[in-house]
Amino acid sequence: MILLEAIRRRWSPRSYRPDPVTREQLMLLFEAARWAPSSNNAQSWFYRYTTSDHPEAHARLAECLTGGNRAWAPQAPVLIVSCGRKFFPGTRTFNRHWMHDVGAANLSLALQATALGMQLHQMAGFDLDACSRLLGLDTEAEEPVTMMALGYPGAADALPEPFRSRELLPRTRKETDSFVELLR
Ligand SMILES: Cc1cc2nc3c(=O)[nH]c(=O)nc-3n(C[C@H](O)[C@H](O)[C@H](O)COP(=O)(O)O)c2cc1C
Repeated sequence: MILLEAIRRRWSPRSYRPDPVTREQLMLLFEAARWAPSSNNAQSWFYRYTTSDHPEAHARLAECLTGGNRAWAPQAPVLIVSCGRKFFPGTRTFNRHWMHDVGAANLSLALQATALGMQLHQMAGFDLDACSRLLGLDTEAEEPVTMMALGYPGAADALPEPFRSRELLPRTRKETDSFVELLR
């Protein structure tokens, strides 16, 4: 038995080639997100994105990034904000799993991107208020979850330090035994 190829090959690069991602490809990625499972099928996710074909909008969204993310993520040809709705549709009932479900949709999107030869890099490092304002969100009910850089991975050499060295580090994980336990 082997792990699915997209799971094995997915990673979070910081260097992206400038090659554009076509609208058809993007729609296929969002289609992958669409089929994610969600609590009560509420599908709490929604996405806003910019591409380098629209440099002003792309730069405005990139302005929301914070810290080290500002050094590399604006160069990605696509920036995406994953957002979620906190209440079940048509109600004021809080959906305790809203962010879980946005995460599930994001992973579905990421794996589809990997299968197409692209990669994406999710980021928590952005200004939540600035992003919500830019997107015109109703902050009582809607919230940005992650920003994502998306594109075809580029050369580590294109990055400034310390990102160049980080790009080349081996990916690590805890051992499965450390987080799984059979209850008897
Ligand atoms: C919710 C979330 C927030 C993250 N925030 C950042 C971030 O702000 N900046 C960054 O460089 N990486 C960020 N990452 C990427 C993680 O550091 C990365 O997924 C992790 O180190 C595992 O590496 P891999 O995705 O290459 O397997 C984030 C990932 C997730 C899922």
